[in-house]
Amino acid sequence: MDTGLNYNYKIVKQFTIATVVWGVIGMLVGVVIAAQLAWPALNFDVPWLTYGRLRPLHTNAVIFAFGICGLFATSYYVVQRTCQVRLFSDTLAAFTFWGWQAVLVLATITLPMGFTRGKEYAELEWPITILITVVWVVYAVVFFGTIVKRKVKHIYVANWFFGAYIIAVAVLHVVNGASMPASAMKSYSAYSGVQDAMIQWWYGHNAVGFILTAGYLGMVYYFIPKQAERPVYSYRLSIVHFWALIFTYMWAGPHHLHYTALPDWTQSIGMVFSLILLAPSWGGMINGIMTLSGAWHKLRTDPILKFLIVSLSFYGMATFEGPMMSIKTINSLSHYTDWGIAHVHAGALGWVGFITMGSIYYLIPRLSGKKEMWSVRLIDLHFWVATIGIVLYIASMWIAGVMQGLMWRAVNPDGTLTYTFVEGVKATYPYYVIRFGGGLLYLSGMLMMAYNTLMTMRGTVAVDPTIPSITPNKPHKTGAGNEVFA
Ligand code: HEM
Ligand code: HEM
Repeated sequence: MDTGLNYNYKIVKQFTIATVVWGVIGMLVGVVIAAQLAWPALNFDVPWLTYGRLRPLHTNAVIFAFGICGLFATSYYVVQRTCQVRLFSDTLAAFTFWGWQAVLVLATITLPMGFTRGKEYAELEWPITILITVVWVVYAVVFFGTIVKRKVKHIYVANWFFGAYIIAVAVLHVVNGASMPASAMKSYSAYSGVQDAMIQWWYGHNAVGFILTAGYLGMVYYFIPKQAERPVYSYRLSIVHFWALIFTYMWAGPHHLHYTALPDWTQSIGMVFSLILLAPSWGGMINGIMTLSGAWHKLRTDPILKFLIVSLSFYGMATFEGPMMSIKTINSLSHYTDWGIAHVHAGALGWVGFITMGSIYYLIPRLSGKKEMWSVRLIDLHFWVATIGIVLYIASMWIAGVMQGLMWRAVNPDGTLTYTFVEGVKATYPYYVIRFGGGLLYLSGMLMMAYNTLMTMRGTVAVDPTIPSITPNKPHKTGAGNEVFA
């Protein structure tokens, strides 16, 4: 049997540190653009500080840098421990780290310079797109290579979710990335018109489904049972909701294109599949939360568990709201408004952010040979500050969004519009200020995490010889397939 010493923890540690660093950067840019929406003069008339250039920098930094570095770290950790073998290749794994950091640095330079393909979440120009493809293929080789050489017969469910995310992202990226280069930093999409829009939102929605959902469910199925010291509530449900989720997500993309030139029946298919998606999404949420059965008391004292469990509550909230927003009549009110931004950040801050933070807090002491984080109280403070930040962010954007939708559609008896557009903008101002405050709180929580990480890794806490990273694995069975690995 492999001992912890035989695992490649170096790569996990590198990606863990990168997650924290990029988290601070991505959220800082988020706070800057939130401030610019309230006080537009904050671009100082400098082209590379303008909102249009910083906004894609924010989305790329939080999703592809903070989000995906977190997924690299956790997937590399989980696949080794649940397969009980070292990663397939240390060299290839190191290539994924440096290759991915190169992508992120190039994004940080080229987006403010204004280079973009003009496709949301797929902005990076063709040379960077090719580099992403190479790194991703190598990632797949390392991950699936490790699964192939596993010493445990069963493939633990967390790996199914990580595996689905890796395969789906490869397919989405290659299809939506197809373009014709016109110069070193300019290319045109291989598709045109409504087909281009459809492919873009097939990509966009499945980026939500497979990066912002499936990948993080991989974290749910490993770190919640570990931290709660309980087996997964229903292993059977985990498999059923896995297949239901990945089948259904693929069809829901057209809900981003309601009332457009896309054929009406296609929009309706998108809506119907989005409504169906509520079931597998809530299946996953319930399975995760119920894993705490018999261990609810731990929530009182364990801030890491608070992050992990509250993330699932936000997941449940976003996946209830999403299907509602996909109903065409509701979408006619919510689309183009800040309601969409509220939905995005309920998912992004509450679900993606919290599950990542909980998992990273779990990993850091184990990767540094420490018993626990430098300050557990600081984790708790981070949790509360960030939670208040999220509430301020999403509540203000919900109110602003519904208000905007109602103001835009209000008509006088003679058929003219009741409000000019700028009246809507003026009415939104206070909510933008509140959102800025919420974002600032969320960012300050992330800074606390960075400080706590630094202090833990520096080594002011005594090394605990019983921690898993330096003791052998002891799998203990808790039901068919439901192994929780020590
Ligand atoms: C301090 C925390 C954050 C702040 C202050 C913030 C702020 C913002 C702002 C102001 C926008 C533009 C909204 C608009 O165009 O009207 C935005 C967009 C976006 N943010 Fe954040 N954000 C934060 C964290 C995050 C995180 C952690 C994620 C993902 C994990 C994320 C994902 C996104 C996405 C996907 C969009 C684009 C939404 C769309 O186009 O509908 N954000 N954010
Ligand atoms: C059952 C699950 C979900 C469904 C059916 C769903 C549905 C929707 C709908 C209808 C929109 C608005 C489209 C529009 O009017 O333009 C939307 C936007 C969005 N959702 Fe969800 N959602 C779900 C879960 C999530 C989760 C968990 C996240 C995680 C962060 C998320 C992230 C986003 C993002 C980033 C956008 C903005 C896309 C853009 O316009 O740039 N969604 N979603």
